[in-house]
Amino acid sequence: MADKPDACQAAKDTTAQTAACTAEPAAGIIFHGLSLQETTLAGCLRRQIHDVIDGSSFFDRYSVEAVCMRILLATGAIQEYFREERPNDKAHLLHDLRRLLSELEESELRDAKIADFIKDSVRYLEADAAPAPLEAAGGEGEELSELVRRIPTMLCNETLGYYKWLARTCVEPGDIVELGSWMGSSTACLAEGLSQNPNRKDRKIHVYDSFIWRNWMKAYTEDAELLASNIREGESFTRYFCNYSEPFRHLIEVHQSVLGTGADHFALPTLDWEGGRIAILLMDFAHDRASNEAMWRVFSPSFRSGSTIVVFNQFGNIPAGEVRNFCKDKRRELVPLHKPRSSAKAFRYQRAIA
Ligand SMILES: C[S@@+](CC[C@H](N)C(=O)[O-])C[C@H]1O[C@@H](n2cnc3c(N)ncnc32)[C@H](O)[C@@H]1O
Repeated sequence: MADKPDACQAAKDTTAQTAACTAEPAAGIIFHGLSLQETTLAGCLRRQIHDVIDGSSFFDRYSVEAVCMRILLATGAIQEYFREERPNDKAHLLHDLRRLLSELEESELRDAKIADFIKDSVRYLEADAAPAPLEAAGGEGEELSELVRRIPTMLCNETLGYYKWLARTCVEPGDIVELGSWMGSSTACLAEGLSQNPNRKDRKIHVYDSFIWRNWMKAYTEDAELLASNIREGESFTRYFCNYSEPFRHLIEVHQSVLGTGADHFALPTLDWEGGRIAILLMDFAHDRASNEAMWRVFSPSFRSGSTIVVFNQFGNIPAGEVRNFCKDKRRELVPLHKPRSSAKAFRYQRAIA
Protein backbone atom coordinates (compact mmCIF):
# COMPACT_ATOMS: atom_id res chain seq x y z
CA MET A 1 0.00 0.00 0.00
CA ALA A 2 1.42 3.42 -0.89
CA ASP A 3 2.60 4.95 2.33
CA LYS A 4 2.13 8.67 1.77
CA PRO A 5 0.73 9.72 5.12
CA ASP A 6 -1.23 12.78 4.17
CA ALA A 7 -2.30 12.50 0.56
CA CYS A 8 -2.78 8.86 -0.40
CA GLN A 9 -3.55 7.51 3.02
CA ALA A 10 -5.93 10.31 3.94
CA ALA A 11 -7.66 9.79 0.64
CA LYS A 12 -8.36 6.23 1.74
CA ASP A 13 -10.29 7.19 4.83
CA THR A 14 -12.05 9.96 3.08
CA THR A 15 -13.09 7.94 0.06
CA ALA A 16 -13.95 4.74 1.87
CA GLN A 17 -17.60 5.38 1.34
CA THR A 18 -20.31 2.84 1.02
CA ALA A 19 -21.27 4.31 -2.31
CA ALA A 20 -19.38 3.53 -5.49
CA CYS A 21 -16.26 5.61 -6.09
CA THR A 22 -15.58 6.89 -9.59
CA ALA A 23 -11.97 7.08 -10.65
CA GLU A 24 -12.37 9.55 -13.52
CA PRO A 25 -12.44 13.02 -12.05
CA ALA A 26 -11.83 14.80 -15.34
CA ALA A 27 -14.55 13.13 -17.34
CA GLY A 28 -17.40 15.42 -18.22
CA ILE A 29 -15.79 18.65 -17.01
CA ILE A 30 -15.62 21.29 -19.72
CA PHE A 31 -13.29 24.26 -19.44
CA HIS A 32 -14.26 27.00 -21.89
CA GLY A 33 -11.50 28.26 -24.10
CA LEU A 34 -9.27 25.30 -23.38
CA SER A 35 -7.86 22.98 -25.94
CA LEU A 36 -9.16 19.57 -24.99
CA GLN A 37 -6.14 17.85 -26.48
CA GLU A 38 -5.16 17.52 -22.86
CA THR A 39 -7.58 14.95 -21.60
CA THR A 40 -6.81 14.93 -17.88
CA LEU A 41 -8.02 17.60 -15.50
CA ALA A 42 -4.44 18.24 -14.36
CA GLY A 43 -3.35 18.60 -17.99
CA CYS A 44 -6.11 21.12 -18.75
CA LEU A 45 -5.33 23.18 -15.68
CA ARG A 46 -1.59 23.17 -16.31
CA ARG A 47 -2.13 24.41 -19.83
CA GLN A 48 -4.49 27.11 -18.60
CA ILE A 49 -1.86 28.30 -16.09
CA HIS A 50 0.79 28.41 -18.84
CA ASP A 51 -1.56 30.45 -21.04
CA VAL A 52 -2.27 32.93 -18.26
CA ILE A 53 1.45 33.27 -17.48
CA ASP A 54 2.23 33.79 -21.16
CA GLY A 55 -0.53 36.36 -21.50
CA SER A 56 -2.42 34.42 -24.17
CA SER A 57 -5.33 33.89 -21.80
CA PHE A 58 -6.95 35.87 -19.03
CA PHE A 59 -8.02 34.41 -15.72
CA ASP A 60 -11.49 35.64 -14.87
CA ARG A 61 -11.95 35.05 -11.16
CA TYR A 62 -15.73 35.46 -11.51
CA SER A 63 -16.11 32.86 -14.24
CA VAL A 64 -18.05 29.70 -13.44
CA GLU A 65 -14.83 27.71 -13.84
CA ALA A 66 -13.04 29.85 -11.25
CA VAL A 67 -15.96 29.55 -8.82
CA CYS A 68 -15.94 25.77 -9.33
CA MET A 69 -12.23 25.64 -8.55
CA ARG A 70 -12.72 27.63 -5.35
CA ILE A 71 -15.55 25.31 -4.34
CA LEU A 72 -13.30 22.32 -4.91
CA LEU A 73 -10.57 23.90 -2.78
CA ALA A 74 -13.09 24.76 -0.06
CA THR A 75 -14.32 21.16 -0.10
CA GLY A 76 -10.72 20.08 0.44
CA ALA A 77 -10.43 22.59 3.30
CA ILE A 78 -13.56 21.15 4.94
CA GLN A 79 -12.11 17.66 4.61
CA GLU A 80 -8.82 18.83 6.09
CA TYR A 81 -10.63 20.54 8.98
CA PHE A 82 -12.50 17.38 9.90
CA ARG A 83 -9.30 15.39 9.77
CA GLU A 84 -7.73 17.41 12.57
CA GLU A 85 -10.47 19.65 14.02
CA ARG A 86 -7.96 22.23 15.20
CA PRO A 87 -10.12 24.81 17.04
CA ASN A 88 -8.08 27.72 15.63
CA ASP A 89 -8.90 26.72 12.03
CA LYS A 90 -12.66 26.98 12.41
CA ALA A 91 -13.11 30.77 12.24
CA HIS A 92 -11.01 30.99 9.09
CA LEU A 93 -12.88 28.15 7.41
CA LEU A 94 -16.25 29.64 8.31
CA HIS A 95 -15.20 33.00 6.92
CA ASP A 96 -14.11 31.42 3.61
CA LEU A 97 -17.28 29.34 3.31
CA ARG A 98 -19.57 32.32 3.93
CA ARG A 99 -17.71 34.34 1.31
CA LEU A 100 -17.94 31.45 -1.13
CA LEU A 101 -21.69 31.22 -0.55
CA SER A 102 -22.21 34.84 -1.49
CA GLU A 103 -19.96 34.42 -4.56
CA LEU A 104 -22.00 31.38 -5.51
CA GLU A 105 -25.25 33.32 -5.23
CA GLU A 106 -23.85 36.03 -7.50
CA SER A 107 -22.33 33.68 -10.05
CA GLU A 108 -23.97 32.04 -13.01
CA LEU A 109 -23.45 28.68 -11.38
CA ARG A 110 -26.88 27.58 -10.26
CA ASP A 111 -26.35 24.42 -8.31
CA ALA A 112 -28.64 23.64 -5.41
CA LYS A 113 -26.64 20.58 -4.33
CA ILE A 114 -23.42 22.55 -3.96
CA ALA A 115 -25.18 25.47 -2.24
CA ASP A 116 -26.90 23.09 0.20
CA PHE A 117 -23.62 21.34 0.98
CA ILE A 118 -21.88 24.62 1.80
CA LYS A 119 -24.87 25.90 3.79
CA ASP A 120 -25.01 22.64 5.79
CA SER A 121 -21.28 22.85 6.48
CA VAL A 122 -21.60 26.46 7.67
CA ARG A 123 -24.58 25.56 9.85
CA TYR A 124 -22.74 22.61 11.39
CA LEU A 125 -19.59 24.61 12.12
CA GLU A 126 -21.59 27.49 13.61
CA ALA A 127 -23.50 25.17 15.93
CA ASP A 128 -20.48 23.10 16.91
CA ALA A 129 -19.69 24.65 20.28
CA ALA A 130 -16.06 25.34 21.09
CA PRO A 131 -14.91 21.83 21.92
CA ALA A 132 -13.62 21.18 25.39
CA PRO A 133 -10.02 19.99 25.10
CA LEU A 134 -10.11 16.35 24.02
CA GLU A 135 -7.95 13.64 25.50
CA ALA A 136 -4.84 12.95 23.44
CA ALA A 137 -5.47 10.09 21.02
CA GLY A 138 -2.65 7.58 21.05
CA GLY A 139 -1.62 5.33 18.24
CA GLU A 140 0.77 7.45 16.17
CA GLY A 141 3.79 5.38 17.19
CA GLU A 142 1.90 2.10 17.34
CA GLU A 143 3.74 -0.75 15.58
CA LEU A 144 1.59 -2.90 13.32
CA SER A 145 2.91 -6.37 12.65
CA GLU A 146 3.52 -7.75 9.17
CA LEU A 147 0.48 -10.00 9.68
CA VAL A 148 -1.71 -6.92 10.05
CA ARG A 149 -0.09 -4.83 7.34
CA ARG A 150 -0.63 -7.45 4.65
CA ILE A 151 -4.44 -7.22 4.98
CA PRO A 152 -6.19 -5.00 2.39
CA THR A 153 -7.69 -1.97 4.07
CA MET A 154 -9.86 1.06 3.46
CA LEU A 155 -8.31 2.85 6.43
CA CYS A 156 -5.25 5.05 6.77
CA ASN A 157 -2.32 4.26 9.06
CA GLU A 158 -3.39 6.85 11.62
CA THR A 159 -6.73 5.11 12.13
CA LEU A 160 -5.20 1.64 12.22
CA GLY A 161 -2.65 2.72 14.85
CA TYR A 162 -5.40 4.39 16.86
CA TYR A 163 -7.54 1.22 16.83
CA LYS A 164 -4.64 -0.87 18.05
CA TRP A 165 -3.84 1.63 20.80
CA LEU A 166 -7.50 1.78 21.89
CA ALA A 167 -7.75 -2.00 22.28
CA ARG A 168 -4.31 -2.26 23.92
CA THR A 169 -5.01 0.39 26.56
CA CYS A 170 -8.71 -0.22 27.26
CA VAL A 171 -9.31 -0.79 30.98
CA GLU A 172 -13.11 -0.62 31.07
CA PRO A 173 -14.89 -3.97 31.33
CA GLY A 174 -16.88 -5.23 28.36
CA ASP A 175 -16.48 -6.52 24.84
CA ILE A 176 -15.43 -4.77 21.65
CA VAL A 177 -17.98 -4.49 18.83
CA GLU A 178 -16.84 -3.75 15.31
CA LEU A 179 -19.42 -2.83 12.64
CA GLY A 180 -17.86 -3.13 9.19
CA SER A 181 -14.66 -5.14 9.11
CA TRP A 182 -14.37 -5.72 5.34
CA MET A 183 -11.21 -7.87 4.90
CA GLY A 184 -10.37 -7.63 8.59
CA SER A 185 -7.64 -5.00 8.71
CA SER A 186 -9.31 -2.95 11.44
CA THR A 187 -10.26 -6.20 13.21
CA ALA A 188 -6.63 -7.37 13.18
CA CYS A 189 -5.47 -4.04 14.64
CA LEU A 190 -8.00 -4.38 17.44
CA ALA A 191 -7.01 -8.00 18.01
CA GLU A 192 -3.30 -7.24 18.05
CA GLY A 193 -3.92 -4.43 20.55
CA LEU A 194 -6.18 -6.59 22.70
CA SER A 195 -3.68 -9.44 22.79
CA GLN A 196 -1.15 -6.98 24.31
CA ASN A 197 -3.62 -5.56 26.83
CA PRO A 198 -2.83 -6.64 30.42
CA ASN A 199 -6.54 -6.12 31.24
CA ARG A 200 -7.66 -8.34 28.38
CA LYS A 201 -9.29 -11.03 30.54
CA ASP A 202 -11.75 -12.96 28.37
CA ARG A 203 -12.90 -10.05 26.24
CA LYS A 204 -13.97 -10.76 22.67
CA ILE A 205 -14.15 -8.70 19.51
CA HIS A 206 -17.59 -9.12 17.93
CA VAL A 207 -17.28 -8.49 14.22
CA TYR A 208 -20.37 -7.67 12.15
CA ASP A 209 -20.47 -7.45 8.37
CA SER A 210 -22.68 -8.67 5.54
CA PHE A 211 -19.46 -9.83 3.82
CA ILE A 212 -21.17 -9.16 0.51
CA TRP A 213 -18.82 -7.99 -2.22
CA ARG A 214 -19.48 -4.70 -4.02
CA ASN A 215 -17.55 -3.82 -7.15
CA TRP A 216 -16.44 -0.42 -5.75
CA MET A 217 -14.46 -2.34 -3.10
CA LYS A 218 -11.91 -3.36 -5.72
CA ALA A 219 -10.50 0.17 -5.67
CA TYR A 220 -9.19 -0.47 -2.14
CA THR A 221 -6.86 -3.35 -2.72
CA GLU A 222 -3.57 -4.09 -4.37
CA ASP A 223 -3.68 -7.63 -3.07
CA ALA A 224 -2.89 -9.87 -6.05
CA GLU A 225 -4.90 -12.82 -4.81
CA LEU A 226 -7.99 -10.73 -4.22
CA LEU A 227 -7.70 -8.91 -7.55
CA ALA A 228 -7.24 -12.19 -9.38
CA SER A 229 -10.14 -13.85 -7.59
CA ASN A 230 -12.73 -12.38 -9.90
CA ILE A 231 -15.15 -12.14 -7.02
CA ARG A 232 -18.45 -10.77 -8.32
CA GLU A 233 -20.92 -8.15 -7.13
CA GLY A 234 -23.23 -9.73 -4.55
CA GLU A 235 -20.97 -12.71 -3.72
CA SER A 236 -19.81 -13.48 -0.21
CA PHE A 237 -16.22 -12.63 0.71
CA THR A 238 -16.35 -14.32 4.12
CA ARG A 239 -13.56 -16.76 3.21
CA TYR A 240 -11.16 -13.87 2.55
CA PHE A 241 -11.97 -12.28 5.89
CA CYS A 242 -11.49 -15.64 7.65
CA ASN A 243 -8.19 -16.19 5.88
CA TYR A 244 -6.76 -12.79 6.71
CA SER A 245 -7.94 -12.81 10.32
CA GLU A 246 -6.97 -16.44 11.02
CA PRO A 247 -4.04 -15.56 13.35
CA PHE A 248 -6.48 -13.69 15.61
CA ARG A 249 -9.33 -16.21 15.42
CA HIS A 250 -9.27 -16.93 19.18
CA LEU A 251 -10.16 -13.29 19.93
CA ILE A 252 -12.92 -12.84 17.35
CA GLU A 253 -16.56 -13.78 17.07
CA VAL A 254 -17.90 -13.31 13.55
CA HIS A 255 -21.53 -12.38 12.86
CA GLN A 256 -22.52 -12.41 9.19
CA SER A 257 -25.62 -10.24 9.30
CA VAL A 258 -27.08 -6.95 8.15
CA LEU A 259 -28.23 -3.87 9.92
CA GLY A 260 -32.02 -3.59 9.76
CA THR A 261 -32.42 -0.24 8.00
CA GLY A 262 -34.92 -1.60 5.49
CA ALA A 263 -32.62 -0.57 2.64
CA ASP A 264 -30.86 -3.89 2.16
CA HIS A 265 -32.41 -6.98 0.67
CA PHE A 266 -29.94 -9.69 1.58
CA ALA A 267 -30.95 -13.18 2.58
CA LEU A 268 -29.01 -12.70 5.80
CA PRO A 269 -30.12 -12.45 9.42
CA THR A 270 -30.80 -9.00 10.81
CA LEU A 271 -28.06 -7.83 13.08
CA ASP A 272 -28.75 -8.29 16.75
CA TRP A 273 -26.90 -7.97 20.07
CA GLU A 274 -27.53 -10.33 22.93
CA GLY A 275 -24.19 -9.84 24.60
CA GLY A 276 -23.36 -7.94 27.75
CA ARG A 277 -21.84 -4.54 28.29
CA ILE A 278 -19.82 -2.95 25.52
CA ALA A 279 -16.45 -1.33 26.21
CA ILE A 280 -15.77 -0.06 22.67
CA LEU A 281 -17.99 0.13 19.59
CA LEU A 282 -16.57 1.04 16.19
CA MET A 283 -19.11 2.13 13.59
CA ASP A 284 -17.85 1.84 10.00
CA PHE A 285 -20.90 0.55 8.12
CA ALA A 286 -22.15 3.64 6.37
CA HIS A 287 -22.57 7.40 6.64
CA ASP A 288 -26.35 7.65 6.31
CA ARG A 289 -28.54 8.62 9.23
CA ALA A 290 -30.71 5.47 9.09
CA SER A 291 -27.69 3.19 9.62
CA ASN A 292 -26.49 5.20 12.59
CA GLU A 293 -29.97 5.29 14.13
CA ALA A 294 -30.29 1.51 13.64
CA MET A 295 -26.88 0.92 15.23
CA TRP A 296 -27.96 3.04 18.21
CA ARG A 297 -31.23 1.13 18.66
CA VAL A 298 -29.48 -2.23 18.74
CA PHE A 299 -26.35 -1.47 20.75
CA SER A 300 -26.84 1.60 22.96
CA PRO A 301 -28.84 -0.31 25.64
CA SER A 302 -25.55 -2.15 26.33
CA PHE A 303 -23.44 1.02 26.60
CA ARG A 304 -22.28 2.02 30.08
CA SER A 305 -22.46 5.63 31.14
CA GLY A 306 -19.05 7.25 31.57
CA SER A 307 -17.29 4.19 30.24
CA THR A 308 -18.25 2.99 26.73
CA ILE A 309 -16.27 4.49 23.85
CA VAL A 310 -18.09 4.89 20.52
CA VAL A 311 -15.97 5.56 17.43
CA PHE A 312 -17.51 6.80 14.18
CA ASN A 313 -14.92 5.93 11.59
CA GLN A 314 -16.51 7.92 8.75
CA PHE A 315 -17.21 11.04 10.86
CA GLY A 316 -14.88 13.38 8.98
CA ASN A 317 -15.60 12.23 5.44
CA ILE A 318 -17.10 14.81 3.12
CA PRO A 319 -20.35 12.87 2.48
CA ALA A 320 -20.71 12.07 6.20
CA GLY A 321 -22.75 15.16 7.13
CA GLU A 322 -25.49 12.88 8.48
CA VAL A 323 -23.02 11.19 10.85
CA ARG A 324 -21.87 14.58 12.13
CA ASN A 325 -25.46 15.72 12.60
CA PHE A 326 -26.34 12.44 14.31
CA CYS A 327 -23.51 12.99 16.81
CA LYS A 328 -24.50 16.62 17.24
CA ASP A 329 -28.12 15.65 17.98
CA LYS A 330 -26.88 13.11 20.52
CA ARG A 331 -24.46 15.55 22.14
CA ARG A 332 -25.95 14.95 25.60
CA GLU A 333 -25.01 11.28 25.27
CA LEU A 334 -21.92 11.43 23.08
CA VAL A 335 -19.11 13.47 24.63
CA PRO A 336 -16.16 14.09 22.27
CA LEU A 337 -13.16 12.11 23.50
CA HIS A 338 -10.43 11.59 20.86
CA LYS A 339 -9.70 12.99 17.43
CA PRO A 340 -7.14 10.83 15.68
CA ARG A 341 -5.59 12.48 12.58
CA SER A 342 -8.05 10.82 10.23
CA SER A 343 -11.75 10.76 9.46
CA ALA A 344 -12.46 8.90 12.73
CA LYS A 345 -13.79 10.55 15.88
CA ALA A 346 -14.35 8.92 19.26
CA PHE A 347 -16.92 9.80 21.91
CA ARG A 348 -17.52 8.71 25.48
CA TYR A 349 -21.08 7.63 26.08
CA GLN A 350 -22.94 9.13 29.02
CA ARG A 351 -26.53 8.59 30.01
CA ALA A 352 -28.56 11.67 29.15
CA ILE A 353 -30.08 13.29 32.22
CA ALA A 354 -33.77 13.93 31.70
C1 LIG B 1 -15.99 1.00 4.96
S1 LIG B 1 -16.02 -0.73 4.92
C2 LIG B 1 -15.10 -1.20 6.35
C3 LIG B 1 -13.61 -1.02 6.21
C4 LIG B 1 -12.80 -1.81 7.23
N1 LIG B 1 -13.07 -1.37 8.58
C5 LIG B 1 -11.32 -1.83 6.96
O1 LIG B 1 -10.56 -1.98 7.93
O2 LIG B 1 -10.87 -1.73 5.80
C6 LIG B 1 -17.67 -1.07 5.34
C7 LIG B 1 -18.02 -2.52 5.55
O3 LIG B 1 -19.33 -2.55 6.13
C8 LIG B 1 -20.12 -3.53 5.51
N2 LIG B 1 -21.51 -3.03 5.55
C9 LIG B 1 -21.96 -1.86 5.07
N3 LIG B 1 -23.26 -1.69 5.33
C10 LIG B 1 -23.65 -2.81 6.00
C11 LIG B 1 -24.90 -3.25 6.56
N4 LIG B 1 -26.00 -2.48 6.49
N5 LIG B 1 -24.95 -4.44 7.18
C12 LIG B 1 -23.83 -5.22 7.27
N6 LIG B 1 -22.63 -4.86 6.77
C13 LIG B 1 -22.54 -3.67 6.14
C14 LIG B 1 -19.55 -3.70 4.11
O4 LIG B 1 -19.75 -5.02 3.65
C15 LIG B 1 -18.08 -3.35 4.30
O5 LIG B 1 -17.31 -4.53 4.48
